[in-house]
Amino acid sequence: MRGIILSGGSGTRLRPLTKITSKQLLPIYNRPMIYYPLDTLIKAGIKEILIIVSPERAGDYLNLLGSGREFGVKFTYEIQDKPEGLAQAFIIGEKFIQGENVVMILGDNIFEDNFADDISNFKSGAKVFAKYVPDPERFGVVKFDDKMKAEKIIEKPTNYLSNYAVTGLYVYDHRVVEVAKNLKPSARGELEITDLNNWYLAKGELEVAMVEGEWLDAGTFDSLLKAQLFAKEKLDAKMSI
Ligand code: DAU
Repeated sequence: MRGIILSGGSGTRLRPLTKITSKQLLPIYNRPMIYYPLDTLIKAGIKEILIIVSPERAGDYLNLLGSGREFGVKFTYEIQDKPEGLAQAFIIGEKFIQGENVVMILGDNIFEDNFADDISNFKSGAKVFAKYVPDPERFGVVKFDDKMKAEKIIEKPTNYLSNYAVTGLYVYDHRVVEVAKNLKPSARGELEITDLNNWYLAKGELEVAMVEGEWLDAGTFDSLLKAQLFAKEKLDAKMSI
């Protein structure tokens, strides 16, 4: 299994904090934000990690993270020229993925759970992780039938669908590269991860597991503050890096 941390984007929602740096390099208590998703991958046993960054910030990432040796892993870096969608990561990462299974985590997603078993037991298809949230309209949202089988996923639904957000951790088999290449940009001009997930869902090959512990997407001022406090009170003691 290979790992990708998607850490590009322009961070416009967090201006002026992100005027001169990348959102995923902002401090979350005593570590840069990207350390948290990196730790999630390391604890899941991933050794080969591709970090996708924007061209403006690439040097900062290299200075901070280096080769990966310090963390016992190997980093590869790729540039995403423009933030054209989460699913583009699999096109950019094609050479890195080398036809293997791949797990992607978003650089601003902070998880308490350990996913080592989910990742080592993964064989084929796709697996995503959902969490009950009070503000589902901010996320990709999954609707379950009465047997808790996923029925559909909608990106930022305007009408209420359910309270289950799809979190920023995704596991796919090697087909993800070809599926991503065949996606059409959405109305907001992005290759949507939700379209990728719906491709696997339509084939009956998408598994949706629940996130048990805390999960935060540190993409707004309020969630950033929540993440800081959570990192200090709970995560700090559990971090391996
Ligand atoms: O956090 C989970 C949510 O992430 C999911 O529920 C949604 O389905 C998914 O679309 C995504 O929603 P966001 O609104 O949070 O996506 P955002 O555009 O903020 O991008 C998420 C992260 O990925 C962010 O740290 C920036 C980075 N990014 C984003 C885009 C669009 C890139 O590196 N490249 C990109 O092209």
